[in-house]
Amino acid sequence: MSSRGPSPLRPPTTPFRPNDQMSPIDRDLHPVIHKGRVAVITGAASGIGRAAARELAKLGLKIAIADVDEAGLSVLAKELASAYGESNVLSMPTDVSKLEEVVRLHDRVYEAWGEVAVLMNNAAIGIRGTSFEGLDNWKSIMDVNLFGVLNVQHTFVPSMLHQENQSVIINTGSKQGITNPPGNAAYNASKAAVKSLTEGLAHELRERPGVNVTAHLFIPGWTFTGMTANAPGAVKPPGAWTPEETVLFMLDRVRSGDFYILVPDNETRREVDQLRILWGAGDIVEGRPALSRWHPNYKSLFEEYMKEGLAQMD
Ligand SMILES: NC(=O)c1ccc[n+]([C@@H]2O[C@H](COP(=O)([O-])OP(=O)(O)OC[C@H]3O[C@@H](n4cnc5c(N)ncnc54)[C@H](O)[C@@H]3O)[C@@H](O)[C@H]2O)c1
Repeated sequence: MSSRGPSPLRPPTTPFRPNDQMSPIDRDLHPVIHKGRVAVITGAASGIGRAAARELAKLGLKIAIADVDEAGLSVLAKELASAYGESNVLSMPTDVSKLEEVVRLHDRVYEAWGEVAVLMNNAAIGIRGTSFEGLDNWKSIMDVNLFGVLNVQHTFVPSMLHQENQSVIINTGSKQGITNPPGNAAYNASKAAVKSLTEGLAHELRERPGVNVTAHLFIPGWTFTGMTANAPGAVKPPGAWTPEETVLFMLDRVRSGDFYILVPDNETRREVDQLRILWGAGDIVEGRPALSRWHPNYKSLFEEYMKEGLAQMD
């Protein structure tokens, strides 16, 4: 056991904003999430992507949906077209890991509508790879979760830079890409890469004169979707949020201009996430072993840190 005490790093005692409080911004006045503008969503055939497509369509945006799941995509396309009109929906079977398919998606969207206001990089897979097993899975997961995002950025961002109207890029990361819990090293690494890539994108966009595009890192909490349901017909566990709840929270924070959109769920509130993130950073600063949160010698120290931290914040 280390002789060092609990981490001196403490999150601010005032939480950034209560989880249940939506921003005061007038939803109807937001220039990007606005009727008549265009949203492109990858991984839109199910889960969070589908919920985002439905919500943005409801708000009056034209929607381009892309996914490898052609059947799921076609069901959603029909649903959206019958509710909002065929001319407002573009459905494109697309494998984001294939650059030529992403280029085709880009060309169709710009031919049809001439702009993109919301670019949502959401497609991902969660197949397993440990640190020294499952190399094929590592390659597949990086192809989709990292290179899928890069393919979309490299294809769409150069066009978005020339648009006069404001637009946003929302990349879907994960808490697993920040706190790195043991279990699926490949997924964690892919999402850590998405975090790094999106932070870089935000900086590059803001440094470029005259550019009206911002980047946002969307970090969902535990959301009940195809990725997290453990069996067909499974019922949402009480701790998880629905995809709709997660998407509404995300859109609210995009409207507020937040870069890091850290979403809670019914099990983990924001303050818990904040403390966990600071503990992870503390491993480096204080010289603790990697992933000390899961190290038996640090178990009680971590528990004490969480208890004290939450008491200070409450
Ligand atoms: N559900 C959660 O608790 C949770 C938590 C953190 C992050 N996320 C992230 O949220 C995003 C959405 O996941 P979800 O939970 O809705 O899962 P999901 O499996 O329901 O949706 C993912 C979608 O991506 C599609 N997809 C997979 N590979 C693709 C490819 N190569 N090209 C195009 N589409 C592809 C799938 O067909 C599917 O429709 C993912 O980036 C995921 O990593 C989810």
